Amino acid sequence: MTIQWFPGHMAKAKREVQEKLKFIDIVFELVDARIPTSSRNPMIDEILVNKPRIMLLNKADMADEEITQQWIAFFQKRHIKALAIDSQAGTGVKQIVAAAKEMLKPKFEKMVAKGIKNPRAMRALIVGIPNVGKSTLINRLAGKHIAKTGDKPGVTKAQQWIKVGKEMELLDTPGILWPKFEDEEVGLKLATTGAIKDTILNLQDVAVYALNFLKQHYPDRLKERYSLTEIPEDIAALFDEIGRRRGCLMSGGLVDYDKVAELVLREIRTEKLGRLSFEKPNE
Ligand code: G4P
Repeated sequence: MTIQWFPGHMAKAKREVQEKLKFIDIVFELVDARIPTSSRNPMIDEILVNKPRIMLLNKADMADEEITQQWIAFFQKRHIKALAIDSQAGTGVKQIVAAAKEMLKPKFEKMVAKGIKNPRAMRALIVGIPNVGKSTLINRLAGKHIAKTGDKPGVTKAQQWIKVGKEMELLDTPGILWPKFEDEEVGLKLATTGAIKDTILNLQDVAVYALNFLKQHYPDRLKERYSLTEIPEDIAALFDEIGRRRGCLMSGGLVDYDKVAELVLREIRTEKLGRLSFEKPNE
């Protein structure tokens, strides 16, 4: 992600989404299943107001299955329809059209009652923060490759409707919104999962956050991956142990903390430590 979100960009992004909403029956709000709160736009409820919406927990293939189910139940309790999907492999994607149809049934029944014999297809828009998988999902639903617009509000191309079966049309340009940067932990979670570039935050800070999280929530995975009998209390000692075991050393044999940070984050993002979720409901 190259975008720097300045206030002007945010206002423009919000306006662009609001413009698109005029033509839309339903919004698919894409979030990262590993961090469903941190990967949301902080103003999303205000932006979407009363639009019918389905929450899509994308990258569910990388998230802790049990926690994803807890999230779905959490949203359901709040009368928000949520689905777990993997846009890359296509798992769960078929359910999206069916769920949208169900949600929009009253609206389309009204059209029929008014005498419209062949109601038009449902019109949908995908919105989400950069890197959450919007383009991947659009391609999946379209069944073909659609050129991606830059992750910059204002970088536009002519919008087109893509047919998704007979019953749905999807806008080929998604709504791109910003995450909640001002919260430091949100930034660390976005960086840990790879949603924001490694040059934005200090890599060691991100790895310290990630390792502390694993220590607390997935200690056995941490032990197994790095062959630790015990996890050291002190985070620097944990960096040392991992560094020595994995050969992340500088000349002279001292542990290279940058290399350790890079290794740990790469292994988290490539599921070497298994499926991980960094947020639970009600935390
Ligand atoms: P965006 O339009 O919202 O910015 O996101 P995009 O579709 O470009 O997806 C960002 C990255 O996330 C891509 O990986 C994409 O393959 C990956 N991705 C999207 N959906 C899923 C999913 O459900 N599961 C998994 N595991 N990955 C997903 P990338 O490394 O940036 O690119 P590439 O390796 O696919 O080329």
